[in-house]
Amino acid sequence: MCGIVGYVGDKNASCVILDSLRRLEYRGYDSAGMAIDGADGIEIYKEVGKVADLAKLVEGKNPNAKRGIGHTRWATHGGVTLLNAHPHSDRNGQFALVHNGIIENYMDIKEQLQREGVAFKSETDTEVIVHLLSNYYDEMKDMVEAMVKLQETLSGSYALAVIRKGDDRKIYCVRRGSPLVLGLGEGETFCASDVPAFLPYTRSVVYLEEGEIAELRPDGVTVWNSKGELVSKDVHTVEWDVTMAEKAGHSHYMHKEIHEQGMVLRTTLKGRISDGRVDLSKDLNWTQEDAQRWKKVHIIACGTSYYAALVAERVFERWTDLDIRVDIASEYRYRNLRCDPETLAIFVSQSGETADTIAAQRKARAEGAHCMAITNVRGSTLAREVHSILLLKAGPEIGVAATKTFTGQVAALFLSALYLGRLRGSMTADEEARLVNEFLQIPYKVENVLEKENEVIKLAQKYHDRQDFLFIGRGISFPVALEGALKLKEISYIHAEAYAAGEMKHGPIALLDEKVPVMAIIPRDMMYEKTLSNVLEAKARKAPVIGVCTEGDEHASKYMDDYVEVPWTDEEFSPFLTVIPLQLFAFHVAKILGKEIDQPRNLAKSVTVE
Ligand code: F6R
Repeated sequence: MCGIVGYVGDKNASCVILDSLRRLEYRGYDSAGMAIDGADGIEIYKEVGKVADLAKLVEGKNPNAKRGIGHTRWATHGGVTLLNAHPHSDRNGQFALVHNGIIENYMDIKEQLQREGVAFKSETDTEVIVHLLSNYYDEMKDMVEAMVKLQETLSGSYALAVIRKGDDRKIYCVRRGSPLVLGLGEGETFCASDVPAFLPYTRSVVYLEEGEIAELRPDGVTVWNSKGELVSKDVHTVEWDVTMAEKAGHSHYMHKEIHEQGMVLRTTLKGRISDGRVDLSKDLNWTQEDAQRWKKVHIIACGTSYYAALVAERVFERWTDLDIRVDIASEYRYRNLRCDPETLAIFVSQSGETADTIAAQRKARAEGAHCMAITNVRGSTLAREVHSILLLKAGPEIGVAATKTFTGQVAALFLSALYLGRLRGSMTADEEARLVNEFLQIPYKVENVLEKENEVIKLAQKYHDRQDFLFIGRGISFPVALEGALKLKEISYIHAEAYAAGEMKHGPIALLDEKVPVMAIIPRDMMYEKTLSNVLEAKARKAPVIGVCTEGDEHASKYMDDYVEVPWTDEEFSPFLTVIPLQLFAFHVAKILGKEIDQPRNLAKSVTVE
């Protein structure tokens, strides 16, 4: 939610900032803006719309600026207007500031500042920060002290980048509750909400902890804690490279990411399986005693990550002897579930920055659970706060709709279940070897399904004009149906609902007629006959049925209007295969409808507000 960037060095700052903002645009795209040094002070450029609109505005302006900050917005406080776009400045034009997060006590601060005569230009919570900072600086004449005091006043979440007139080789940053990473280049320094923003320039990064304040200069950074005491920071090298954050010949990031799923599975499994056994000892610090102590597993997540958790729930039930509960983070954090030192709490988050998931983790941790993160972002807030972490290694996911990270998350959760089953002795070595053997085949089978894209394009051509879809599945295919419906609605804006197939006759069947297609996820598994009955019920109501079936299914051509086949696999692994036609279907429907696939309306990739 909102992306912020900052640059100080010898390059053209506006070009670097625009380039970095484009790479962060997945975080929000309501409006964009930048502040750079001009001949007479700080110049601010803002546009409602995308970074491309900002680029047109800035074109040719001020090629000499060597320092600046930028913002791409996902509106929270205040509508999508030019005045509400960032950067914001104080009354003297001394400071320009960009913000990602939410200031909870901004109303009180605003009223106080208004009483003191400050006139506000915007409706945002952010504007209070820049006025406060300006006041504190005037009082203290020291940026670090002013930022310490600022933190004492503000409550809520924030990552801030700020420039001050006259300080033209410095940017100041602070973060609390919202992400911010620093990039160290040769004679240039960056800050950004996420690493891909500066990947073309450097892979050396510094992660800021809660409350840390940083001064960025071309020759490096200095960091203080929230009390203003100097701290020394480690420099990390990120594994991602710039090509991973490019479209590589695909029309959209989402298309590229769908096609990367075989690779994602290979890298997620690599080094974690040997001799028919899962070994996560290099990733997880779990001891035999830990594994024996745990009686319960809670898996907590939001959105697509939650659906990945629901898929995994079925295998935790089978492969371990633990009580398993899966919940949505925004619900879990306010429930009174029994969570204690006998609980392994797994938090699944692609970004590692989802506010509800982080809050749920803090609650579980406070109650004594062992907290584990499954995430794609090594330095994320979630990754830094948990006891143990299993990385997806999916590479950056830029398309707002999650695809490859769903697959990576399911794989990481499956690995965890197998490892736990092994540590607890709830699975025989033969059973584990059989499952692992099939697991290793899945990347190839995924690539086989991806080759069927042309069949899915034909389905998209046939059905793209429908207003409503029903997705159904049973058992492990039910969360796949949920995920398929989510993909379709979020990028094509077509209404789609998903139900456990057996639930259809308890209500949703009333929706069916010849205009409402039913997408049935019906691999050859234990539930096959049952789901087939539900397909026939839909057919009896004249609904067209599209099946995602197993190769060689003799009923498919008889009972379905259309179908896509996926290779056979064990029931547990079928979600890796059945989800792919659904992702491709959503993609091609949205493409035919001319939608903004990588940046669907109203969404942002990283949901850092509650
Ligand atoms: C859907 C989607 C979202 C995210 C959700 C959680 O395509 O991307 O539903 O899955 O916002 O995000 P993370 O996994 O970053 O916590």
